[in-house]
Amino acid sequence: MQNESKKPGAVEAAVSAARGVIARYRQYLPVGEGTPIITLGEGSTPLVFAPRLSERIGGRVLIKCEGLNPTGSFKDRGMTLAVSKALERRAQGLICASTGNTSASAAAYAARAGIPCAVILPAGKIASGKLVQPIAHGARIVSIDGNFDDALRIVRELGDKGEFAIVNSINPDRIAGQKTAAFEIVDELGDAPDIHILPLGNAGNLTAYGAGYSEFRQLGKARVLPRMIGIQAEHAAPIYHRRVIKRPETVASAIRIGNPASWEAAQHAIDESNGAVEIVADSEILEAQSWLAKTEGIFVEPASAAPIAGLFKLAKARRADLTFENITVVCTCTGHGLKDPEIMSANFSLGVPVAPTVEAVREIITRS
Ligand code: F0G
Repeated sequence: MQNESKKPGAVEAAVSAARGVIARYRQYLPVGEGTPIITLGEGSTPLVFAPRLSERIGGRVLIKCEGLNPTGSFKDRGMTLAVSKALERRAQGLICASTGNTSASAAAYAARAGIPCAVILPAGKIASGKLVQPIAHGARIVSIDGNFDDALRIVRELGDKGEFAIVNSINPDRIAGQKTAAFEIVDELGDAPDIHILPLGNAGNLTAYGAGYSEFRQLGKARVLPRMIGIQAEHAAPIYHRRVIKRPETVASAIRIGNPASWEAAQHAIDESNGAVEIVADSEILEAQSWLAKTEGIFVEPASAAPIAGLFKLAKARRADLTFENITVVCTCTGHGLKDPEIMSANFSLGVPVAPTVEAVREIITRS
């Protein structure tokens, strides 16, 4: 693409200035003249009206499709800021613990920044679509015989010694960047929704949404503060049970966490907004994932189906203090369905290939 009239670098500057959450919400983020901006064009994800879900619930349900970020999850919003700030502070390398998505995002933004990245992962518990990402981006991968909580403990120690910049959500820059999802929703709706439901793992994202909505309400951009509802998997539900879970287990491996780092901050956001925490069974998560894909055309990873499962459960419970009629609900679907392909293909078989004829193919597709 050659354009004689443009100065060298002008196209690049124009393109990158137009995209990314730092470009869009710079005035609300801790960036200055000297901050190098590392972006992959994250954010500005679709807020999709879900007609059948709305019908089932009786309210207006919208899905914030965070799987459409550059690395396929919401983590990119916080990562662009965390990595930009790490570079500004002259960090020599990045480190994170992860159930998968943070490692994918950190590795991609580190590659973009041209600095090394180490990712510490619980062995055997990372969905394959996520695991290939740090491999592709050239990160140093360490798999530990422990869970996410163990990995984060190790990362905290390595980071404390100043060797690496930690890019988990214990880094406030991650939370600041993730607030932009709430900003986008308010900008698009002209106000905050009445209820916001999202999966609850290490609890950084709910904390970030709470902070984002509060900030925009203080600025007069939103009139209401949504009730923040976090959904945990039944056997990985420390916040719901109000105790650390030593051996968390769930099919939604992204939220297989027993001792969330942002527990207190998330609890505060929930309490302040008159929100709630609910739990759902793995079977409910998988049912909701399949329902959403087949009924609304939106394919999300299991953790991202937790808020949908939670919404079904809460609507069915008909709690007097939590009704859905005539109100606006936003569910954040945090990661793309392609992140975890095995879950969907586990019970599916293509069967024996048929003869390459019209008759053979028609016979199969019209079979009742
Ligand atoms: N949904 C997905 C797809 C996630 O990957 C995560 C967290 C969450 C929800 C929960 O968000 O931790 O802010 O409460 N994944 C982290 C990771 C832990 O390492 O990728 P949270």
